[in-house]
Amino acid sequence: MYFTNLLTISYVAIVALVSSLASAAPILPRDVYVPPILYPKAGTVWHVGQRHNVTWDVSNPPVNITNSRGAIYLRNTTHFFQDIPLATGFDILLGRFEVTVPDVTGTDIRVVLFGDSGNWSPEFTIKP
Ligand SMILES: *[C@@H]1O[C@H](CO)[C@@H](O)[C@H](O)[C@H]1NC(C)=O
Ligand SMILES: *[C@@H]1O[C@H](CO)[C@@H](O)[C@H](O)[C@H]1NC(C)=O
Ligand SMILES: *[C@@H]1O[C@H](CO)[C@@H](O)[C@H](O)[C@H]1NC(C)=O
Repeated sequence: MYFTNLLTISYVAIVALVSSLASAAPILPRDVYVPPILYPKAGTVWHVGQRHNVTWDVSNPPVNITNSRGAIYLRNTTHFFQDIPLATGFDILLGRFEVTVPDVTGTDIRVVLFGDSGNWSPEFTIKP
């Protein structure tokens, strides 16, 4: 019984892996797109619970974008592995997305914008 379940799980995992590889396979040449973050910038101060528009430059996108779904994370420079998601699944070509400042404070905070790969803002401050 245990063995059967294990086989079923492995099968499901393999099918999921294969189909994700298939859907990720590029059909046409695509361009990696990492637009520069305009806001927040160095010297910006946010307060916990406020809402702000994270903005980025979309003036010069490539014709074919590999991943047009954007994601915004908050990153503390000394604990970069503890990224906090602020927003995911929006259109990277919007150029801005309104987020709520989570309950983290520090002077070494960065916003990371993901399209194809991450692009960091300069360090800024979040106060209580
Ligand atoms: C974010 O930008 C939109 C569009 O310009 C605006 O309507 C909204 O009030 C802005 N939000 C904040 C928190 O400034
Ligand atoms: C963009 O993709 C289209 C098809 O969707 C293709 O015809 C075109 O050559 C591509 N352009 C570039 C610059 O990769
Ligand atoms: C970064 O995050 C860690 C863990 O939350 C915290 O101990 C540290 O004080 C933060 N750094 C700054 C400069 O706030």
